Amino acid sequence: MKKNLNISILPGDGIGKEISQEAMKIINWASKKFDLSIKLKEEYVGGVSIDIFGTPLSEETLKRIKQSDAIILGAVGGPKWENLEFEKRPERGLLKIRKELDLFANLRPAFVFDPLLDASSLKPEIIKGLDILIIRELTSGIYFGEPRGIKKIDKNNFKGFNTLSYTTFEIERIANIAFDTAMKRSKKLCSIDKANVLEATELWREVVNKTSKKYPEVEVSHMYVDNAAMQLVRNPKQFDVIVTTNMFGDILSDCASMLTGSLGMLPSASLGFSKNGKQKAMYEPVHGSAPDIAGKGISNPLAMILSVAMMFKYTFENQSLYELINKAVNSVLSKGYRTKDISSKGTQPVSTFEMGDLVLKELSNEKI
Ligand code: IPM
Ligand code: MG
Repeated sequence: MKKNLNISILPGDGIGKEISQEAMKIINWASKKFDLSIKLKEEYVGGVSIDIFGTPLSEETLKRIKQSDAIILGAVGGPKWENLEFEKRPERGLLKIRKELDLFANLRPAFVFDPLLDASSLKPEIIKGLDILIIRELTSGIYFGEPRGIKKIDKNNFKGFNTLSYTTFEIERIANIAFDTAMKRSKKLCSIDKANVLEATELWREVVNKTSKKYPEVEVSHMYVDNAAMQLVRNPKQFDVIVTTNMFGDILSDCASMLTGSLGMLPSASLGFSKNGKQKAMYEPVHGSAPDIAGKGISNPLAMILSVAMMFKYTFENQSLYELINKAVNSVLSKGYRTKDISSKGTQPVSTFEMGDLVLKELSNEKI
């Protein structure tokens, strides 16, 4: 396992702050337990950064986090900043980190913890044992394509426009990650596009097919995104690894999260590589800043804690610590403890803080 790493933690806005506190508990525990000497440094991003520095991500912050070994991010955004001009909004801070660090591979696992089977709106038999991994391209596509903007056509008529574009290089590198990942799992990969309508994704399909020649053992299939959305709800267990574009991945991962019971359960890792081949990474929950419940101590810290688990897997290269944290979360859930978003009849309601403590208690009781 790697040691002496510098981790930047960016709580951001809304519930980002409270769930980050719980993440830090787990990091501090691991650092002590395994003598890892992790250096955690808190930084600002999003609305909180706008309030302090007048920008969602300051150049100084960007410089520092670029030098750290990994980034953990809570969530950004909230009604307070919604009316700001586009470039100044909290979300731009997050997108800038993704782009500047070239974190092109976004891994969004969706798996069901057995104790949460009844928290999903789908029938238990449809989702029992569900374990899928959405690999979302994160630094290109319609999120970043040029030209973009809002133009005045005449007095009362404007035109808003964005560009969906992908290069062979961009598709190839995400396809490689997807095939490599599929090789380590069930060797099944589904690529999702809209190749019947959009040329950018016609190229996507072509390049995925070309890349598949290097991976003869992987069974590759293609699906249009509209059908994929339907199939995810109809029979999600037909999928194992999914690879898709930035925007389709954004939408499908929210959909996949509800299969697991709550958006509050889904972690993610965004990976890239610097020129010398060193891995760069940011870990964040898939959910947003939930301003309506922020500060009430009722948010679910588990997606954040599971994102920390992903950090131990990918940045610290320690699979067993990843598994340990996942197991601790499962134990807490099986004992009936629930934050509000995943509560059901007969379960024990707990706060954000208590949920973090319960996971910590499980971890501390492990004989390692
Ligand atoms: C996500 C979020 C972001 C996105 C927003 C906050 C910019 O929805 O990470 O899924 O659209 O990528
Ligand atoms: Mg999203």
